[in-house]
Amino acid sequence: FDAVDIIRTKRDKGTLTAEQIDWTIDAYTRGVVADEQMAALNMAILLNGMSRAEVSRWTAAMIASGDRMDFSALGKPTADKHSTGGVGDKITLALAPLVAVFGVAVPQLSGRGLGHTGGTLDKLEAIPGWRAELGNEELMSQLAGIGAVICAAGAGLAPADKKLYALRDVTGTVESIPLIASSIMSKKIAEGTQALVLDVKVGSGAFMKDEESARELAATMVDLGTGAGVETVALLTNMDTPLGLTAGNAIEVEEAVEVLAGGGPDDVVELTVRLADEMLRAAGVPDADPAAALKDGRAMDVWNRMIEAQGGDPRAKLPVARHSEVVYAPADGVLLQLDALAVGVAAWRLGAGRARKEDPVQAGAGVRLHAKPGAVVRAGEPLMTLLTDTPARFGRAKEALAGAVVIGPEGDRPGQQLIIDRI
Ligand code: URA
Repeated sequence: FDAVDIIRTKRDKGTLTAEQIDWTIDAYTRGVVADEQMAALNMAILLNGMSRAEVSRWTAAMIASGDRMDFSALGKPTADKHSTGGVGDKITLALAPLVAVFGVAVPQLSGRGLGHTGGTLDKLEAIPGWRAELGNEELMSQLAGIGAVICAAGAGLAPADKKLYALRDVTGTVESIPLIASSIMSKKIAEGTQALVLDVKVGSGAFMKDEESARELAATMVDLGTGAGVETVALLTNMDTPLGLTAGNAIEVEEAVEVLAGGGPDDVVELTVRLADEMLRAAGVPDADPAAALKDGRAMDVWNRMIEAQGGDPRAKLPVARHSEVVYAPADGVLLQLDALAVGVAAWRLGAGRARKEDPVQAGAGVRLHAKPGAVVRAGEPLMTLLTDTPARFGRAKEALAGAVVIGPEGDRPGQQLIIDRI
């Protein structure tokens, strides 16, 4: 095979054969296809798309690039959740221990944030002592004993995707339905979960800005999962405004702990309980009552054990940012919009995220919201608090927030509903 021929085929809107796809992914993983060739091919895929058969083969080739895990020895059902990425999306933190309460093992292999979207591992690393990296045996014994693990995916899982994702990130080729679907599903299928619930985000803070493309992404991923024997469902959920009242690292852990203590913001609780329901149903446990397990402390017990097993102290005081600045409401009225992308970029610039993969994040940085869309606000009332250890960052964070807040006349209501559909 010749990489240039393959690039030309896709450039000219042709269809790649199974053999061409297998060769491309394998040769790229081995360094035979160069980054610039793969970047050109990715751009051709982004512009011209792939058929369902091509996406399916591309995904299978990425799975075959590395190890496959197998949890069948655990003797209990497994379920996992994956979000396509959002702002303030701390759902995994409370969800994994919550589902484990009901005897379903949750191997939540997670990632770090990049760009304006937060990463579950970055959030948990705000907990003093907590370790993201686990060996295979530790992962298995924690799943057997405690039932929930949130950790980094090992280097052996879909290595083609690791290389490809880093390349896409710097070549403007992230926002492609076939490339996102194959990236996510190759990792989840290789991980070996029996049931998978996808939280496909739609809106300003998501990769998919409109409902039609989010639906197409969800349907593509559900097909790939089902085709590989994974019980897969997807929820389409709104990401026009951040989830909950926090976007950052330590402050998101704090909010997840409030949810585990039976409190927390309504939207975070609603989505956590709904996703738990879906995971439990997909794993064959239809009659559980996850809302009750948040109220009575059972989910918190699993959380404490899960954090301790990975070296963390669940009762330790979390890091607090050294500096803060308040943003005030510019007018009286109803808060109609509080833009997720703007808040995500602000939190990122404050130090909660990283500009390059190797950068550290600040545990205390982020944005705390004091009102959500639908709230009545008065001019001069605090709307958000910006948090950072490096006050020089306030300026660019505030620039990101220009135009993020829309206040309308009292009586108007924001349009969005949180859970849009199930696919
Ligand atoms: N998350 C992934 O893992 N891959 C993508 O391509 C996009 C989001």
